[in-house]
Amino acid sequence: MTDSSIRAVRARRIWDSRGRPTIEAEIELADGSVGRGLAPAGASRGSREALDLRDGGTLLGGFGVAQALAGIAREIAPALLGRDARDQAGLDAFLIELDGTVLKSRLGGNALVAVSLAALHAAAASARQPLWQYLAAGNPVTLPMPEIQIFGGGAHAGRRIDIQDLMVMPIGATSVNEALEMTAEVYLAAGKIMTARGLLQGVADEGGYWPAFDSNEQALDTLVEAIESAGYDPRTQVAISLDIAASEFGADGRYRLGLDKRELDSDGLCALMLDWCARYPIVSIEDPLAEDDGAGLQKFTAAIGDRVQVIGDDYLVTNASKVEQAAADGAVNAVLLKVNQAGTVSETRAALEAAQRHGFGTIVSARSGETEDVAIAHLAVGWNAKQLKVGSFARSERMAKWNELVRIEEALGPQARFAGTAGLPKGKRS
Ligand code: PGA
Ligand code: ZN
Repeated sequence: MTDSSIRAVRARRIWDSRGRPTIEAEIELADGSVGRGLAPAGASRGSREALDLRDGGTLLGGFGVAQALAGIAREIAPALLGRDARDQAGLDAFLIELDGTVLKSRLGGNALVAVSLAALHAAAASARQPLWQYLAAGNPVTLPMPEIQIFGGGAHAGRRIDIQDLMVMPIGATSVNEALEMTAEVYLAAGKIMTARGLLQGVADEGGYWPAFDSNEQALDTLVEAIESAGYDPRTQVAISLDIAASEFGADGRYRLGLDKRELDSDGLCALMLDWCARYPIVSIEDPLAEDDGAGLQKFTAAIGDRVQVIGDDYLVTNASKVEQAAADGAVNAVLLKVNQAGTVSETRAALEAAQRHGFGTIVSARSGETEDVAIAHLAVGWNAKQLKVGSFARSERMAKWNELVRIEEALGPQARFAGTAGLPKGKRS
């Protein structure tokens, strides 16, 4: 028995930002330290990500978590008692083996991720360190460049526009504080423009404006306008970052842009994305082609990867061996890291480390269904990921993460180093 050995594992049903049930796990150690892990949930999910275990049926839209909670109580909790919470790798390997399925469908990715994160938090609490510091283990850390959504679309806004996330990256900022202030100005300016033109229909799942645009390019034009009307230069101060989430509107080499009423093949969508990158101040683009279109992604990244960050989200599903494959074939040059997409903290870290070895961009990311949990702000700092994607600049489940970054920056004091554009491909660094 050491101080950090697990003496209790509890789990309960809580509710996420879409009002759906999710799981909170709590792990208590011999020294009294307690850690909590909260499972987020995606809406535009990659087909190879860890599967949440949901009850199905008619209650709560089928999203119930009674079975997943029962699995924690019956199998996971008793098996973890006495194990050392500081051995995250050993614990996660054990959870993976206990589940025994490729996509974690038996015990559920939602159960595993909550328990894995709870152990991490408990270990940090036992070490009496903030999570970012515990994760850094003495290595240098950076405050990440935020990627912040202004307009929501795709699966997060009733498919009102095809592009899922129209975001900004304050590339001219020199600190988190400044980056957030610049973003606040752009978010405010965009809201004014939308209201004045009668284009505002509320906010989407991640807090970005739910827009009534007539075309995808009108969304891009309005975003540039908002940046400029906030007083910033879109080439050097506040640039654009997109998540196309192309798997949501295309497969088998056919893409259907609902808003533009166009159907394109892989080459056609690739050409359109390259055209947007040439005509708009885009520094980063995520899933520009569908998860089954590796050849299309390779062509796209070969054409523009030296200047624009090309992120694999649905394409890489936070999987280290997929990152290795992409490094070999050049399909993308950056990876989105979602702990619940992998299912455990250790697998997420492995994907991060593979990406860092190959010089890929690394972006720690929230899900569209979130909670008040701020762990990802700590992961981004402690893992030196250099970029963080949380959603928009509204709704408390988003703001909680941005506000946590403000606190971490302050706690680091004179040692605080803002990543700025260091995580982006060199050709686009300001
Ligand atoms: P999701 O989307 O959380 O709904 O899967 C986020 C993303 O695609 O980045
Ligand atoms: Zn995405």
